[in-house]
Amino acid sequence: MPIPPTGLAPDAVLTALRSFKGLDLDWQAGRVFAYVYQPDDAAAAVVKDAYLLYLTENCLDPTTFPSVGKLEHDVVAMVAHLLQGDDQVAGNVTSGGTESILLAVKTARDYAQAQRPHITQPEMVLSRTAHAAFHKAAHYLGVKPVVVGFDPVTFQADVDAMAAAITPNTILLVASAPCYSQGVVDPVPAIAALAQERGLLCHVDACVGGIHLSFLRKLGRAVGAFDFSVPGVTSLSVDMHKYGYAAKGASVILYRDSSLRRFQIFSSTDTTAYTIINPTALSSRSGGPLAGAWAILNYLGEDGYKEIVETVQAATERLIAGVEGIDGLRVLGQPAMSMFSFASDTINVYQLADAMRRRNWYLQPQFSTPTSPRNLHISMTYGVAHNVDALLADLAACVDEVRAEPPLDTDFIAAAAAALAEDPSPDAIAGLMGAVGLQPGELPQEMALINELLDALPDAVANEILIDFFNAL
Ligand SMILES: Cc1ncc(COP(=O)(O)O)c(C=O)c1O
Repeated sequence: MPIPPTGLAPDAVLTALRSFKGLDLDWQAGRVFAYVYQPDDAAAAVVKDAYLLYLTENCLDPTTFPSVGKLEHDVVAMVAHLLQGDDQVAGNVTSGGTESILLAVKTARDYAQAQRPHITQPEMVLSRTAHAAFHKAAHYLGVKPVVVGFDPVTFQADVDAMAAAITPNTILLVASAPCYSQGVVDPVPAIAALAQERGLLCHVDACVGGIHLSFLRKLGRAVGAFDFSVPGVTSLSVDMHKYGYAAKGASVILYRDSSLRRFQIFSSTDTTAYTIINPTALSSRSGGPLAGAWAILNYLGEDGYKEIVETVQAATERLIAGVEGIDGLRVLGQPAMSMFSFASDTINVYQLADAMRRRNWYLQPQFSTPTSPRNLHISMTYGVAHNVDALLADLAACVDEVRAEPPLDTDFIAAAAAALAEDPSPDAIAGLMGAVGLQPGELPQEMALINELLDALPDAVANEILIDFFNAL
Protein backbone atom coordinates (compact mmCIF):
# COMPACT_ATOMS: atom_id res chain seq x y z
CA MET A 1 0.00 0.00 0.00
CA PRO A 2 1.56 3.35 -0.97
CA ILE A 3 1.40 6.40 1.27
CA PRO A 4 -1.35 8.70 -0.11
CA PRO A 5 0.32 10.96 -2.73
CA THR A 6 -1.20 14.05 -1.12
CA GLY A 7 -2.10 14.33 2.51
CA LEU A 8 -5.66 14.12 3.84
CA ALA A 9 -7.37 16.86 5.82
CA PRO A 10 -7.24 16.36 9.62
CA ASP A 11 -10.99 15.68 9.70
CA ALA A 12 -10.68 13.00 7.06
CA VAL A 13 -7.83 11.32 8.95
CA LEU A 14 -9.75 11.26 12.22
CA THR A 15 -13.01 10.20 10.58
CA ALA A 16 -11.20 7.27 9.00
CA LEU A 17 -9.65 6.26 12.31
CA ARG A 18 -13.01 6.48 14.05
CA SER A 19 -14.58 4.32 11.39
CA PHE A 20 -11.92 1.60 11.84
CA LYS A 21 -13.07 1.20 15.43
CA GLY A 22 -16.28 -0.23 14.04
CA LEU A 23 -14.29 -3.43 13.47
CA ASP A 24 -13.66 -3.81 17.19
CA LEU A 25 -15.76 -4.92 20.09
CA ASP A 26 -17.29 -1.81 21.60
CA TRP A 27 -15.52 -1.81 24.98
CA GLN A 28 -17.18 1.50 25.86
CA ALA A 29 -20.50 -0.32 26.16
CA GLY A 30 -19.07 -2.09 29.24
CA ARG A 31 -19.33 -5.59 27.80
CA VAL A 32 -15.65 -6.50 27.42
CA PHE A 33 -14.45 -8.33 30.53
CA ALA A 34 -10.73 -8.41 29.67
CA TYR A 35 -8.09 -6.19 28.08
CA VAL A 36 -9.55 -2.83 29.12
CA TYR A 37 -9.28 -1.25 32.59
CA GLN A 38 -11.26 1.95 32.60
CA PRO A 39 -11.81 4.36 35.49
CA ASP A 40 -14.68 6.88 35.46
CA ASP A 41 -14.82 9.59 32.79
CA ALA A 42 -13.26 12.30 34.95
CA ALA A 43 -10.25 10.14 35.86
CA ALA A 44 -9.90 8.94 32.27
CA ALA A 45 -9.84 12.57 31.11
CA VAL A 46 -7.05 13.44 33.55
CA VAL A 47 -4.99 10.48 32.31
CA LYS A 48 -5.61 11.45 28.71
CA ASP A 49 -4.62 15.09 29.25
CA ALA A 50 -1.48 14.07 31.14
CA TYR A 51 -0.60 11.57 28.41
CA LEU A 52 -0.95 14.17 25.69
CA LEU A 53 1.03 16.71 27.72
CA TYR A 54 4.02 14.33 27.63
CA LEU A 55 3.34 12.73 24.26
CA THR A 56 6.50 14.09 22.68
CA GLU A 57 8.96 14.04 25.59
CA ASN A 58 11.40 11.16 25.31
CA CYS A 59 12.08 8.89 28.30
CA LEU A 60 15.37 7.94 26.64
CA ASP A 61 17.32 10.71 28.28
CA PRO A 62 16.44 12.10 31.72
CA THR A 63 19.38 14.52 31.46
CA THR A 64 17.57 16.26 28.60
CA PHE A 65 14.14 15.77 30.14
CA PRO A 66 14.72 15.84 33.92
CA SER A 67 10.97 16.13 34.49
CA VAL A 68 10.56 12.66 33.03
CA GLY A 69 13.11 11.39 35.55
CA LYS A 70 11.12 13.01 38.34
CA LEU A 71 7.86 11.44 37.18
CA GLU A 72 9.49 8.00 37.08
CA HIS A 73 11.03 8.48 40.51
CA ASP A 74 7.65 9.49 41.97
CA VAL A 75 5.72 6.61 40.39
CA VAL A 76 8.31 4.06 41.52
CA ALA A 77 8.40 5.53 45.04
CA MET A 78 4.59 5.55 45.40
CA VAL A 79 4.19 1.99 44.14
CA ALA A 80 7.14 0.76 46.26
CA HIS A 81 5.56 2.35 49.35
CA LEU A 82 2.20 0.76 48.56
CA LEU A 83 3.93 -2.62 48.19
CA GLN A 84 5.50 -2.15 51.65
CA GLY A 85 9.02 -1.59 50.38
CA ASP A 86 11.52 0.49 52.33
CA ASP A 87 13.82 3.26 51.11
CA GLN A 88 16.22 0.71 49.66
CA VAL A 89 13.75 -0.46 47.01
CA ALA A 90 14.81 0.50 43.48
CA GLY A 91 12.85 0.25 40.28
CA ASN A 92 11.71 1.62 36.96
CA VAL A 93 8.62 2.30 34.93
CA THR A 94 8.40 -0.01 31.93
CA SER A 95 6.03 -0.34 28.99
CA GLY A 96 3.98 -3.17 30.50
CA GLY A 97 3.87 -6.37 32.48
CA THR A 98 5.75 -8.32 29.86
CA GLU A 99 8.65 -5.87 29.85
CA SER A 100 8.77 -5.83 33.66
CA ILE A 101 8.93 -9.62 33.69
CA LEU A 102 11.53 -9.74 30.91
CA LEU A 103 13.66 -7.39 32.96
CA ALA A 104 13.21 -9.37 36.19
CA VAL A 105 14.33 -12.55 34.40
CA LYS A 106 17.25 -10.76 32.70
CA THR A 107 18.31 -9.34 36.05
CA ALA A 108 18.15 -12.80 37.64
CA ARG A 109 20.13 -14.29 34.77
CA ASP A 110 22.86 -11.66 34.90
CA TYR A 111 22.99 -11.68 38.69
CA ALA A 112 23.49 -15.44 38.59
CA GLN A 113 26.14 -15.04 35.92
CA ALA A 114 28.06 -12.78 38.28
CA GLN A 115 27.52 -14.88 41.43
CA ARG A 116 27.57 -18.40 40.01
CA PRO A 117 29.46 -18.18 36.70
CA HIS A 118 29.68 -21.99 36.39
CA ILE A 119 25.95 -22.13 35.44
CA THR A 120 25.76 -22.45 31.66
CA GLN A 121 22.04 -23.20 31.40
CA PRO A 122 20.15 -21.13 33.97
CA GLU A 123 16.69 -22.35 35.00
CA MET A 124 13.66 -20.74 36.61
CA VAL A 125 10.94 -22.67 38.41
CA LEU A 126 7.34 -21.61 37.94
CA SER A 127 3.84 -22.99 38.25
CA ARG A 128 1.83 -23.70 35.14
CA THR A 129 -0.51 -20.94 36.28
CA ALA A 130 2.23 -18.27 35.87
CA HIS A 131 1.81 -15.85 32.98
CA ALA A 132 3.16 -16.62 29.49
CA ALA A 133 5.41 -13.54 29.80
CA PHE A 134 7.79 -15.78 31.78
CA HIS A 135 7.90 -18.26 28.90
CA LYS A 136 8.58 -15.40 26.53
CA ALA A 137 11.36 -14.12 28.80
CA ALA A 138 12.80 -17.62 28.96
CA HIS A 139 12.65 -17.89 25.18
CA TYR A 140 14.26 -14.49 24.58
CA LEU A 141 16.90 -14.78 27.29
CA GLY A 142 18.00 -18.41 27.07
CA VAL A 143 16.68 -19.33 30.51
CA LYS A 144 15.04 -22.74 30.82
CA PRO A 145 11.49 -22.63 32.23
CA VAL A 146 10.93 -25.54 34.62
CA VAL A 147 7.15 -25.75 34.89
CA VAL A 148 5.55 -27.52 37.83
CA GLY A 149 1.95 -28.41 38.65
CA PHE A 150 -0.50 -26.60 40.87
CA ASP A 151 -3.10 -27.68 43.38
CA PRO A 152 -6.05 -28.70 41.19
CA VAL A 153 -8.57 -27.48 43.76
CA THR A 154 -7.08 -24.16 44.88
CA PHE A 155 -5.01 -23.50 41.72
CA GLN A 156 -2.16 -22.32 43.95
CA ALA A 157 1.42 -23.15 43.00
CA ASP A 158 2.58 -26.46 44.48
CA VAL A 159 5.50 -25.42 46.70
CA ASP A 160 6.70 -28.99 47.26
CA ALA A 161 6.83 -29.52 43.51
CA MET A 162 8.77 -26.26 43.16
CA ALA A 163 11.26 -27.43 45.81
CA ALA A 164 11.67 -30.75 44.01
CA ALA A 165 12.29 -28.96 40.70
CA ILE A 166 15.22 -26.90 41.99
CA THR A 167 18.56 -28.00 40.54
CA PRO A 168 22.09 -26.61 40.82
CA ASN A 169 21.20 -24.51 37.74
CA THR A 170 18.15 -22.81 39.27
CA ILE A 171 18.43 -19.03 39.52
CA LEU A 172 14.85 -17.85 40.11
CA LEU A 173 11.55 -18.92 41.67
CA VAL A 174 8.33 -17.31 40.44
CA ALA A 175 5.11 -16.63 42.33
CA SER A 176 1.92 -14.94 41.10
CA ALA A 177 -0.21 -12.49 43.08
CA PRO A 178 -2.51 -13.42 41.56
CA CYS A 179 -2.19 -15.51 38.42
CA TYR A 180 -4.28 -14.02 35.63
CA SER A 181 -6.06 -17.21 34.63
CA GLN A 182 -7.89 -18.00 37.88
CA GLY A 183 -7.12 -14.90 39.98
CA VAL A 184 -5.51 -17.00 42.69
CA VAL A 185 -2.61 -15.78 44.86
CA ASP A 186 0.21 -18.30 45.30
CA PRO A 187 1.62 -19.09 48.76
CA VAL A 188 4.20 -16.32 48.38
CA PRO A 189 5.70 -16.59 51.92
CA ALA A 190 6.43 -20.30 51.40
CA ILE A 191 7.89 -19.78 47.91
CA ALA A 192 10.01 -16.82 49.06
CA ALA A 193 11.22 -18.77 52.10
CA LEU A 194 12.20 -21.64 49.83
CA ALA A 195 14.11 -19.21 47.61
CA GLN A 196 15.89 -17.74 50.62
CA GLU A 197 16.76 -21.15 52.00
CA ARG A 198 18.28 -22.19 48.67
CA GLY A 199 20.00 -18.86 47.98
CA LEU A 200 17.75 -18.01 45.02
CA LEU A 201 15.95 -14.92 43.81
CA CYS A 202 12.16 -14.79 44.01
CA HIS A 203 10.04 -12.70 41.67
CA VAL A 204 6.40 -12.03 42.52
CA ASP A 205 4.26 -11.25 39.50
CA ALA A 206 1.84 -8.72 40.95
CA CYS A 207 1.10 -7.26 37.53
CA VAL A 208 -2.64 -7.52 38.06
CA GLY A 209 -2.72 -7.67 41.85
CA GLY A 210 -0.17 -5.12 43.05
CA ILE A 211 -2.57 -2.22 43.31
CA HIS A 212 -5.95 -3.91 43.80
CA LEU A 213 -4.75 -6.39 46.47
CA SER A 214 -2.85 -3.66 48.34
CA PHE A 215 -5.99 -1.54 48.62
CA LEU A 216 -8.07 -4.57 49.60
CA ARG A 217 -5.57 -5.06 52.42
CA LYS A 218 -5.88 -1.39 53.38
CA LEU A 219 -9.66 -1.84 53.40
CA GLY A 220 -9.21 -4.53 56.05
CA ARG A 221 -9.78 -7.56 53.83
CA ALA A 222 -7.78 -10.74 54.44
CA VAL A 223 -5.14 -10.75 51.72
CA GLY A 224 -2.32 -13.29 51.68
CA ALA A 225 1.08 -11.59 52.10
CA PHE A 226 2.69 -11.15 48.69
CA ASP A 227 4.82 -7.99 48.67
CA PHE A 228 8.08 -6.69 50.16
CA SER A 229 6.71 -7.43 53.64
CA VAL A 230 7.59 -11.05 52.83
CA PRO A 231 11.27 -11.83 53.49
CA GLY A 232 12.86 -13.45 50.44
CA VAL A 233 10.81 -11.58 47.82
CA THR A 234 13.53 -9.95 45.72
CA SER A 235 11.52 -8.36 42.91
CA LEU A 236 7.92 -7.48 42.06
CA SER A 237 6.14 -6.41 38.89
CA VAL A 238 3.08 -4.15 39.21
CA ASP A 239 1.15 -2.89 36.20
CA MET A 240 -0.15 0.66 36.34
CA HIS A 241 -2.06 0.06 33.10
CA LYS A 242 -4.27 -2.62 34.63
CA TYR A 243 -5.75 -2.10 38.08
CA GLY A 244 -3.75 1.14 38.45
CA TYR A 245 -6.18 2.51 35.79
CA ALA A 246 -3.39 4.33 33.92
CA ALA A 247 -3.18 4.39 30.13
CA LYS A 248 -1.57 1.42 28.42
CA GLY A 249 2.21 1.41 28.34
CA ALA A 250 2.92 1.66 32.09
CA SER A 251 4.15 -0.95 34.54
CA VAL A 252 6.58 -0.86 37.44
CA ILE A 253 9.44 -3.26 38.14
CA LEU A 254 10.77 -3.13 41.69
CA TYR A 255 13.82 -4.72 43.32
CA ARG A 256 14.55 -5.02 47.01
CA ASP A 257 17.63 -2.85 46.49
CA SER A 258 19.69 -1.19 43.83
CA SER A 259 22.52 -3.74 43.99
CA LEU A 260 20.12 -6.15 42.30
CA ARG A 261 18.56 -3.57 39.97
CA ARG A 262 22.07 -2.83 38.69
CA PHE A 263 21.91 -6.06 36.64
CA GLN A 264 18.91 -4.71 34.75
CA ILE A 265 20.72 -1.69 33.33
CA PHE A 266 22.38 -1.63 29.91
CA SER A 267 24.92 0.89 28.77
CA SER A 268 26.78 1.34 25.49
CA THR A 269 29.41 3.83 24.39
CA ASP A 270 30.52 1.33 21.75
CA THR A 271 29.28 3.04 18.62
CA THR A 272 29.84 6.21 16.65
CA ALA A 273 26.63 7.57 18.14
CA TYR A 274 25.46 8.99 21.44
CA THR A 275 25.69 7.29 24.85
CA ILE A 276 23.02 4.70 25.39
CA ILE A 277 22.14 4.10 29.00
CA ASN A 278 18.90 2.15 29.30
CA PRO A 279 17.51 0.86 32.57
CA THR A 280 14.62 -0.74 30.67
CA ALA A 281 14.31 -2.72 27.43
CA LEU A 282 13.11 0.15 25.26
CA SER A 283 15.19 3.16 24.33
CA SER A 284 13.17 6.01 22.78
CA ARG A 285 9.71 6.07 24.28
CA SER A 286 7.00 8.64 24.78
CA GLY A 287 6.64 10.22 28.21
CA GLY A 288 2.86 9.89 27.75
CA PRO A 289 2.24 6.58 29.57
CA LEU A 290 4.52 7.62 32.44
CA ALA A 291 2.74 10.96 32.82
CA GLY A 292 -0.61 9.12 32.70
CA ALA A 293 0.56 6.83 35.53
CA TRP A 294 1.78 9.77 37.63
CA ALA A 295 -1.47 11.60 36.99
CA ILE A 296 -3.81 8.79 38.03
CA LEU A 297 -1.89 8.07 41.25
CA ASN A 298 -2.06 11.72 42.22
CA TYR A 299 -5.60 12.32 40.97
CA LEU A 300 -7.18 9.33 42.69
CA GLY A 301 -5.05 9.26 45.81
CA GLU A 302 -5.59 6.52 48.37
CA ASP A 303 -9.25 7.44 48.84
CA GLY A 304 -9.99 7.27 45.13
CA TYR A 305 -8.37 3.88 44.76
CA LYS A 306 -10.17 2.54 47.82
CA GLU A 307 -13.50 3.63 46.37
CA ILE A 308 -12.73 1.96 43.05
CA VAL A 309 -11.51 -1.23 44.69
CA GLU A 310 -14.60 -1.45 46.89
CA THR A 311 -16.92 -1.01 43.92
CA VAL A 312 -15.05 -3.51 41.77
CA GLN A 313 -14.74 -6.08 44.54
CA ALA A 314 -18.43 -5.87 45.41
CA ALA A 315 -19.33 -6.32 41.74
CA THR A 316 -16.98 -9.30 41.48
CA GLU A 317 -18.49 -10.98 44.50
CA ARG A 318 -21.99 -10.48 43.13
CA LEU A 319 -20.90 -11.85 39.76
CA ILE A 320 -19.19 -14.89 41.27
CA ALA A 321 -22.29 -15.69 43.31
CA GLY A 322 -24.43 -15.24 40.20
CA VAL A 323 -22.24 -17.51 38.07
CA GLU A 324 -22.26 -20.18 40.79
CA GLY A 325 -26.04 -19.88 40.78
CA ILE A 326 -26.36 -20.76 37.08
CA ASP A 327 -27.00 -24.46 36.68
CA GLY A 328 -23.99 -26.13 35.06
CA LEU A 329 -21.37 -23.46 35.79
CA ARG A 330 -18.75 -23.56 38.54
CA VAL A 331 -16.04 -21.09 39.55
CA LEU A 332 -12.50 -22.50 39.67
CA GLY A 333 -10.21 -22.17 42.71
CA GLN A 334 -10.52 -19.41 45.28
CA PRO A 335 -10.20 -16.10 43.44
CA ALA A 336 -8.45 -13.54 45.63
CA MET A 337 -9.58 -10.38 43.88
CA SER A 338 -11.50 -9.18 40.86
CA MET A 339 -10.67 -11.83 38.29
CA PHE A 340 -11.81 -15.42 38.10
CA SER A 341 -12.70 -18.21 35.74
CA PHE A 342 -15.51 -20.71 35.49
CA ALA A 343 -15.92 -24.12 33.90
CA SER A 344 -18.80 -26.42 33.08
CA ASP A 345 -19.23 -30.16 33.25
CA THR A 346 -22.40 -30.08 31.17
CA ILE A 347 -21.90 -27.59 28.33
CA ASN A 348 -19.03 -26.58 26.10
CA VAL A 349 -17.73 -23.26 27.44
CA TYR A 350 -16.17 -22.40 24.08
CA GLN A 351 -19.65 -22.50 22.55
CA LEU A 352 -20.83 -20.39 25.48
CA ALA A 353 -18.14 -17.76 24.74
CA ASP A 354 -19.31 -17.60 21.12
CA ALA A 355 -22.95 -17.31 22.18
CA MET A 356 -22.04 -14.44 24.50
CA ARG A 357 -19.99 -12.81 21.74
CA ARG A 358 -23.06 -12.83 19.49
CA ARG A 359 -24.65 -10.67 22.22
CA ASN A 360 -21.54 -8.43 22.21
CA TRP A 361 -20.06 -9.72 25.49
CA TYR A 362 -16.43 -10.74 25.60
CA LEU A 363 -15.48 -13.55 27.98
CA GLN A 364 -12.02 -15.01 27.46
CA PRO A 365 -11.65 -18.70 26.59
CA GLN A 366 -8.81 -20.49 28.42
CA PHE A 367 -7.39 -23.96 27.93
CA SER A 368 -7.51 -27.14 29.93
CA THR A 369 -4.45 -28.81 31.46
CA PRO A 370 -4.09 -32.43 32.55
CA THR A 371 -5.41 -31.39 35.97
CA SER A 372 -7.89 -28.62 35.17
CA PRO A 373 -10.81 -28.06 32.80
CA ARG A 374 -11.15 -25.57 29.97
CA ASN A 375 -12.81 -22.42 31.23
CA LEU A 376 -13.77 -18.82 30.58
CA HIS A 377 -12.00 -15.92 32.25
CA ILE A 378 -13.63 -12.74 33.55
CA SER A 379 -11.74 -9.63 34.68
CA MET A 380 -14.03 -7.24 36.53
CA THR A 381 -12.97 -3.60 36.34
CA TYR A 382 -14.50 -0.28 37.27
CA GLY A 383 -15.73 0.43 33.74
CA VAL A 384 -17.84 -2.75 33.55
CA ALA A 385 -18.88 -3.11 37.20
CA HIS A 386 -22.33 -1.64 36.50
CA ASN A 387 -23.15 -4.44 34.10
CA VAL A 388 -23.25 -7.44 36.44
CA ASP A 389 -27.00 -8.04 36.23
CA ALA A 390 -27.11 -7.69 32.46
CA LEU A 391 -24.14 -10.04 32.10
CA LEU A 392 -25.70 -12.66 34.38
CA ALA A 393 -29.03 -12.50 32.56
CA ASP A 394 -27.38 -13.09 29.19
CA LEU A 395 -25.05 -15.72 30.60
CA ALA A 396 -27.99 -17.74 31.93
CA ALA A 397 -29.80 -17.35 28.60
CA CYS A 398 -26.70 -18.39 26.64
CA VAL A 399 -26.18 -21.48 28.81
CA ASP A 400 -29.71 -22.56 27.82
CA GLU A 401 -29.00 -21.66 24.20
CA VAL A 402 -25.82 -23.76 24.11
CA ARG A 403 -27.63 -26.68 25.75
CA ALA A 404 -30.07 -26.59 22.85
CA GLU A 405 -27.34 -26.29 20.19
CA PRO A 406 -25.94 -29.39 18.50
CA PRO A 407 -22.71 -30.29 20.30
CA LEU A 408 -19.42 -29.66 18.54
CA ASP A 409 -17.96 -32.66 16.79
CA THR A 410 -15.28 -33.16 19.41
CA ASP A 411 -14.47 -36.68 18.16
CA PHE A 412 -13.49 -35.20 14.81
CA ILE A 413 -11.34 -32.60 16.57
CA ALA A 414 -9.66 -35.13 18.83
CA ALA A 415 -8.87 -37.40 15.89
CA ALA A 416 -7.62 -34.48 13.80
CA ALA A 417 -5.47 -33.19 16.67
CA ALA A 418 -3.96 -36.63 17.17
CA ALA A 419 -3.19 -36.89 13.44
CA LEU A 420 -1.68 -33.42 13.42
CA ALA A 421 0.47 -34.16 16.44
CA GLU A 422 1.85 -37.13 14.48
CA ASP A 423 2.24 -35.30 11.19
CA PRO A 424 2.34 -31.52 11.54
CA SER A 425 3.02 -31.04 7.80
CA PRO A 426 1.91 -27.74 6.19
CA ASP A 427 -0.70 -29.60 4.11
CA ALA A 428 -2.16 -31.39 7.11
CA ILE A 429 -2.30 -28.10 9.01
CA ALA A 430 -3.91 -26.20 6.12
CA GLY A 431 -6.56 -28.93 5.72
CA LEU A 432 -7.44 -28.89 9.36
CA MET A 433 -7.46 -25.10 9.59
CA GLY A 434 -9.99 -24.99 6.78
CA ALA A 435 -12.10 -27.64 8.53
CA VAL A 436 -12.35 -25.53 11.70
CA GLY A 437 -13.10 -22.35 9.74
CA LEU A 438 -9.68 -20.67 9.77
CA GLN A 439 -8.67 -19.20 6.44
CA PRO A 440 -5.13 -17.84 5.97
CA GLY A 441 -5.09 -14.05 6.28
CA GLU A 442 -8.57 -13.82 7.84
CA LEU A 443 -9.60 -13.29 11.43
CA PRO A 444 -12.25 -15.81 12.52
CA GLN A 445 -15.65 -14.86 13.94
CA GLU A 446 -16.74 -18.05 15.66
CA MET A 447 -13.97 -19.46 17.84
CA ALA A 448 -15.40 -22.58 19.49
CA LEU A 449 -14.02 -25.16 17.05
CA ILE A 450 -10.69 -23.37 16.88
CA ASN A 451 -10.36 -23.28 20.66
CA GLU A 452 -11.44 -26.90 20.79
CA LEU A 453 -8.62 -27.79 18.40
CA LEU A 454 -5.99 -25.67 20.16
CA ASP A 455 -7.01 -27.24 23.45
CA ALA A 456 -6.65 -30.73 22.00
CA LEU A 457 -3.24 -30.20 20.39
CA PRO A 458 0.09 -30.57 22.20
CA ASP A 459 1.29 -27.04 23.12
CA ALA A 460 4.33 -27.20 20.85
CA VAL A 461 2.17 -27.99 17.79
CA ALA A 462 -0.52 -25.45 18.70
CA ASN A 463 2.13 -22.75 19.12
CA GLU A 464 3.67 -23.46 15.71
CA ILE A 465 0.24 -23.30 14.08
CA LEU A 466 -0.57 -20.00 15.76
CA ILE A 467 2.76 -18.51 14.69
CA ASP A 468 2.14 -19.54 11.08
CA PHE A 469 -1.40 -18.19 11.22
CA PHE A 470 -0.26 -14.80 12.52
CA ASN A 471 2.60 -14.74 10.08
CA ALA A 472 0.06 -14.96 7.27
CA LEU A 473 -2.19 -12.14 8.53
C1 LIG B 1 -0.33 -11.79 35.94
C2 LIG B 1 0.13 -11.16 34.68
N1 LIG B 1 1.44 -10.99 34.45
C3 LIG B 1 1.90 -10.42 33.33
C4 LIG B 1 1.05 -9.98 32.34
C5 LIG B 1 1.59 -9.34 31.09
O1 LIG B 1 1.26 -7.98 31.08
P1 LIG B 1 1.20 -7.10 29.75
O2 LIG B 1 0.06 -7.61 28.93
O3 LIG B 1 1.00 -5.73 30.28
O4 LIG B 1 2.50 -7.24 29.06
C6 LIG B 1 -0.32 -10.12 32.54
C7 LIG B 1 -1.26 -9.68 31.51
O5 LIG B 1 -2.45 -9.81 31.63
C8 LIG B 1 -0.79 -10.72 33.72
O6 LIG B 1 -2.09 -10.88 33.95
